[in-house]
Amino acid sequence: MVRFENVGLRYGMGPEVLRDVTFGIPQHSFQFLTGPSGAGKTTLLRLLFLSLKPTRGLITMFDRDVASLGPDQVAALRRRIGIVFQDFRLLDHLTTYENVALPLRVQGMEEASYAAEVRELLGWVGLGEHMHVLPPVLSGGEKQRAAIARALISRPEILLADEPTGNVDPRLARRLLRLFVELHKTGTSVLIATHDIALMDQFDARRLVLQDGRLRIYE
Ligand SMILES: Nc1ncnc2c1ncn2[C@@H]1O[C@H](COP(=O)(O)OP(=O)(O)OP(=O)(O)O)[C@@H](O)[C@H]1O
Ligand SMILES: [Mg+2]
Repeated sequence: MVRFENVGLRYGMGPEVLRDVTFGIPQHSFQFLTGPSGAGKTTLLRLLFLSLKPTRGLITMFDRDVASLGPDQVAALRRRIGIVFQDFRLLDHLTTYENVALPLRVQGMEEASYAAEVRELLGWVGLGEHMHVLPPVLSGGEKQRAAIARALISRPEILLADEPTGNVDPRLARRLLRLFVELHKTGTSVLIATHDIALMDQFDARRLVLQDGRLRIYE
């Protein structure tokens, strides 16, 4: 679904943060992306979400060279990708329910057609009781789950998550990971950035390890 060939990225005039990165996101895959703080995990996810362009190398997504895409095509491609940001990016003036429903609303869907699904998904991530509150009153873990629900509501083909368990205790972290495993079972390709080795050890998945800008793959 996605292929990186010798991708390099630098911010401005800075050093190359990613160097010769080659890997893929196969259909129906479940992978971890790991490496020390500052190794470039978020940067790699931003490339995958098309919010950064590579400074060299080739990225193909759904059989398209992403360098050749115009803004409309980028928007269309992004709709096939769900992302959970490291800093959540919930809108504080919208309720949990409204935040999760937002991707569908901006696509012009009628509330009646998605209300039940949004409620069900919020129940699934354990936020059924918090549907009508604003994000500032949610705990870190609850915000995280709201961000996960928002990423899932449009049924993406690829789900990217940046430290989705960074703000929760180990038990909830395991539960959230199981949720991603369930999602994977429904056919979604999942890529999770984390530096929680203890957590990764509990799941049998391929590991993409970033170190000094280079990516190594451990099956
Ligand atoms: N907008 C930016 N401008 C310049 N440098 C940046 C920018 N964003 C990130 N960097 C640099 O790129 C490198 C990789 O950062 P990135 O955020 O991708 O790391 P990370 O692996 O996600 O780290 P963490 O585990 O702490 O989230 C770091 O050295 C960082 O300082
Ligand atoms: Mg990061």
